[in-house]
Amino acid sequence: MKKYIKVDEWKIIEEGFDPKNHLVSESLFSLGNGHMGQRANFEETYSGESLQGSYMAGVYYPDKTRVGWWKIGYPEYFAKVINSTNWIGLRLLFDGEELDLARVHVKDFTRILNMKEGYLERNFIALFSGGREVEVNAIRFLSIARPEIGVISYSIKPLNFSGNLKIILYLDGDVRNQDANYDEKFWVENHRTIDTAEAILTMRTKKLDFYLTSAMRCKIIQGNQPLSLSPLLHSKEKYLAYEFNLPMIQGERTSIEKYVANVTSRDYPVDSLENVGRLRVQEAFGIGYSSLLEEQREAWAKKWQDSDIVIEGDSEAQQGIRFNIFQLHQTYTGDDPRLNIGPKGFTGEKYGGSTYWDTEAYCLPFYLSTADSHIARNLLLYRYNHLEKAKENARKLGFKKGALYPMVTMNGEECHNEWEITFEEIHRNGAIAYAIYNYVHYTGDNAYLPQYGLEVLIEISRFWEERIQYTEHKGYVILGVTGPNEYENNVNNNWYTNRIAAWTLQYTLETLEFVRKEYPERYEEMMEKTKLREEETEKWKEMIEKMYYPVDENRGIFLQQDGFLDKELKTVDQLDPKERPINQHWSWDRILRSCYIKQADVLQGLFFLGDQYDLETKRRNFDFYEPMTVHESSLSPCVHSILASELGYKEKAYELYLRTARLDLENYNHDTEDGLHITSMAGTWMSVVMGFGGLRVRNGRLVLNPYTPDHWKGFSFKILFRGSRLKVTVTKEKVLLRNETETPADLLIFGNEYTIGAQGELEIALQQRTKAEI
Ligand code: BGC
Repeated sequence: MKKYIKVDEWKIIEEGFDPKNHLVSESLFSLGNGHMGQRANFEETYSGESLQGSYMAGVYYPDKTRVGWWKIGYPEYFAKVINSTNWIGLRLLFDGEELDLARVHVKDFTRILNMKEGYLERNFIALFSGGREVEVNAIRFLSIARPEIGVISYSIKPLNFSGNLKIILYLDGDVRNQDANYDEKFWVENHRTIDTAEAILTMRTKKLDFYLTSAMRCKIIQGNQPLSLSPLLHSKEKYLAYEFNLPMIQGERTSIEKYVANVTSRDYPVDSLENVGRLRVQEAFGIGYSSLLEEQREAWAKKWQDSDIVIEGDSEAQQGIRFNIFQLHQTYTGDDPRLNIGPKGFTGEKYGGSTYWDTEAYCLPFYLSTADSHIARNLLLYRYNHLEKAKENARKLGFKKGALYPMVTMNGEECHNEWEITFEEIHRNGAIAYAIYNYVHYTGDNAYLPQYGLEVLIEISRFWEERIQYTEHKGYVILGVTGPNEYENNVNNNWYTNRIAAWTLQYTLETLEFVRKEYPERYEEMMEKTKLREEETEKWKEMIEKMYYPVDENRGIFLQQDGFLDKELKTVDQLDPKERPINQHWSWDRILRSCYIKQADVLQGLFFLGDQYDLETKRRNFDFYEPMTVHESSLSPCVHSILASELGYKEKAYELYLRTARLDLENYNHDTEDGLHITSMAGTWMSVVMGFGGLRVRNGRLVLNPYTPDHWKGFSFKILFRGSRLKVTVTKEKVLLRNETETPADLLIFGNEYTIGAQGELEIALQQRTKAEI
């Protein structure tokens, strides 16, 4: 596929309509507001290839598992994010001829995602076979201020004819998921009602009984005047529509405004849904399109004010980072602890929109630094609330105690069904423990530990205790796992897994001691609740001490797993570019036997536990593993970019940054049509702030070691840290810090201590990083 997105610092722009790009564009131009998401499907009929996608946060379907060989322990279902009522749809017929971009000639097509103001725009001229030309301008947005509201403004101008126009504005609940396991439709109709003012359609999922009510109101405007037309009403199973028939005059514009409220039973009692939907849509209709758009602009301005990253002198990089930040805000607003961040957010069906370890390992830092701390806390509470399910999950796999969090989940239950991932990618438990550490360490919210964190840590540690085994010649080992690198399965002693397991045991012991001293009453309660015995903690100590780690003494590196050196060691530059990505060209067997690495594995550990390893250890491991890494997980380039920055490999850090920032814009992994890589977008943010900015937190203090990549003139970002908001601007010569709050901030910059007082400023000349600072 050719690169077709125009570079612009605030917009994503596609010029000219090429149906071959449409599926990718439907993902790229997606809209969301935390409550719902919408792929960039056309409002009007489109008979070409398309993946229809209207998604409601937290509304999912337990689609019965489909596998060839059932293995005990497999989950009953995979939780799917479901394509819901098509609320954007409309049809236009010009003297009976329908507008369909797959059937007309399309001129002057532009599709623009305005990231600054939060709306999607489309302009084109449709040329019908008989020679008629119609100019179209369509704008839509999902309101940030009123998350249940979606608005469309669609205007049409016949350029060279006058005639009759038929407009049909509809709600269609008869939708399906392309990835349904049994080709089953997930929704049934519950109720529908229509009068000349409002059309209200309520759908219910066949399982779990989620209800979605979509309430629609419309306005037709000609010559700046709303028309008082009586529409024809259409009502059939799962479908409601208004039909307007009106004359069109050459050169005159007709505008349609469509307002829809989507409210679900997650938020309101079922019997009130219709009323709430009606009320919401009436409110929106009363406010009107222009004021709602103005409200949208203001809401986005506020988001950008706290989280924008400005890059001077590199428009591609600038567009990339803004695209990532924009999509993250569209996916998760953090106000609802029942929600989480799916790897594809609301932009496609694949990965089910469910929660993976991605949240803890990749997304948390973005929310820690750009949003109030209750948002990161909500992400942690999501797992706390699933602790009982994680215990059930461990029991289901035959463990007598402890908790194994699921690899993929919606409600706490595991719903992934490939044995090498479900049963073997147990490292995810470590990421959940690490997130507790990361949160407490960053925010200083120590009270989280006695209240919630400790209990989760104890149960995860108990799982490790049972899963780890002792062998005379090696000590404690972990057999039969898949590490973060999913291109090796069922390996023994994956260094990362062994390391994160031992680290969790250690952190749990430290937390126990902390809670015992600082919150003695709560400690007693916890002991009572968990029935933790001394022999358990004694065992954990022994396991930490005698944990086995595979190493290669000669190279001075940690080994990805016991057998890694038995492989033929080759670098990625020896691969034929035509065979990449290898997961789309090689048999799985060939991939498993090769040395090629999908994503950071040993290096993931060196990133997480960066303060425990010196620079030379990191360098030797990076130099060994990065050249073998194909980065075929979107989560891969960011971690490598951060480590490359730390090691002073500036060019590499920049190259990997661009790869993560523009992964979807360039469709590097040839899969953007399935949806955007939302969770890796937080990794992009990390590669700027933690990579180029060198942000860390050490002993409760912010540490910065910034440098400006050669390709940039400078960059700036904002971070919230324990009550202060700092704007950090880095140029080729200096770093400028501005404290935008009344709370003073203590920092370590290039190894020196500074305090920036309320509303204070600080300017420091750029220096080389030194080992001690990293
Ligand atoms: C990665 C996993 C990740 C998942 C969802 C996979 O390709 O290997 O680490 O959790 O995608 O993003």
